[in-house]
Amino acid sequence: MNFVNFLFVYIIVLIIWTFYKRYFSSSEFQVKNKHVLITGGSSGLGFSFAKLCVKNGANVTIVSRSQEKLDVAVKQLRGFSTKKDSQKIESFACDVTCVSEVEQLFCSLIVPVDIIVLCAGASKPGFFHQQSPVLFKDQVELNYLGSVYAATYCFQKMLRDGVCGAKFIFISSACGLLSFPGYSQYAATKFALRGFCDAFRGELLLFQYTSHIFFASSIDSPGFAEEQKLKPELTKKIEGTCVLQTSDQAAASLWTGISRGHYQITSDFAVELLRISNNSTNPRNNFLLELLLLPFACIMQHLSPAQGVAKCERRHKQFTGHMTLYSAKPSSLRLGLVIYSTSS
Ligand SMILES: NC(=O)c1ccc[n+]([C@@H]2O[C@H](COP(=O)([O-])OP(=O)(O)OC[C@H]3O[C@@H](n4cnc5c(N)ncnc54)[C@H](OP(=O)(O)O)[C@@H]3O)[C@@H](O)[C@H]2O)c1
Repeated sequence: MNFVNFLFVYIIVLIIWTFYKRYFSSSEFQVKNKHVLITGGSSGLGFSFAKLCVKNGANVTIVSRSQEKLDVAVKQLRGFSTKKDSQKIESFACDVTCVSEVEQLFCSLIVPVDIIVLCAGASKPGFFHQQSPVLFKDQVELNYLGSVYAATYCFQKMLRDGVCGAKFIFISSACGLLSFPGYSQYAATKFALRGFCDAFRGELLLFQYTSHIFFASSIDSPGFAEEQKLKPELTKKIEGTCVLQTSDQAAASLWTGISRGHYQITSDFAVELLRISNNSTNPRNNFLLELLLLPFACIMQHLSPAQGVAKCERRHKQFTGHMTLYSAKPSSLRLGLVIYSTSS
């Protein structure tokens, strides 16, 4: 068989396989009558995901620090209830960075938890040399340890309650795949979460439990609005004019990924390419398709603006004293900026 024939057969197999994976091998994500607990469920992505769970008949507990915000969110969620009398929608005020509070949460929950979504998190961008080490500690405590504490105590409770087929859904970020100037504190925590999840996934399989990790792109949320206030101009330029997803759109992408049984989930093409090239030894979502896309992922990595933009900024500043980017950057960088315009 010559190369052209081989390529032809390969593409045909790829199309059939992709079609099969898409339409025949996906199992719907069933939450009806299950108990879903969502940390960070009072706003943004966590709240939107809670909404989807309620609409699909789940009993939902949302967790965050402010009881006031939780009360408002619970009231709104009850409006989406499919079975007004029997569906339970509750809240629990808890700071996930505090081990004793998290332990208390899972001790006081009477009903078994079937699915946990670890969504509480925040980003505090800034340049490393301008930030305090305490901020780095706070980011680790919230974005990494906050999820690990909740996963740990929830796992213990699931085993005590004899829960079958439990699910752990972790919320990372595109910054869990790609780090660049301004995100040294945040990206490190989302990379850490990925390292934790890759090991945890294998351990969960021993109990026939499953896990998912979502590398979310920029989401229009209260958290994102706060993040923008701190974000250095350089970081904004590297991100480009990113198209923000609404939190409902991001939650829907997460839901689709879970339904398809994907371990690693993304919500746009650029981040998907990053995921493909950063897959490590994790199960691939679609082996043949990813094999075909890998060369493109490598090219995009090569064009990554992350370091290039910083260099251009420095060079340009030396000449003009101004922080303007566009006159200084090469065209390949401009392409890279477009490609990577969605990460946060
Ligand atoms: N927004 C984005 O662009 C983006 C992009 C990628 C990934 N993500 C990730 O997606 C997740 C949700 O982000 P978002 O922007 O949609 O959310 P958000 O609107 O900022 O809401 C954050 C939620 O977490 C809760 N929370 C914060 N600190 C907490 C703590 N110490 N203990 C318990 N709950 C806490 C908040 O409630 P209280 O303040 O009342 O505690 C709120 O319910 C985060 O993990 C974030 O890193 C976001």
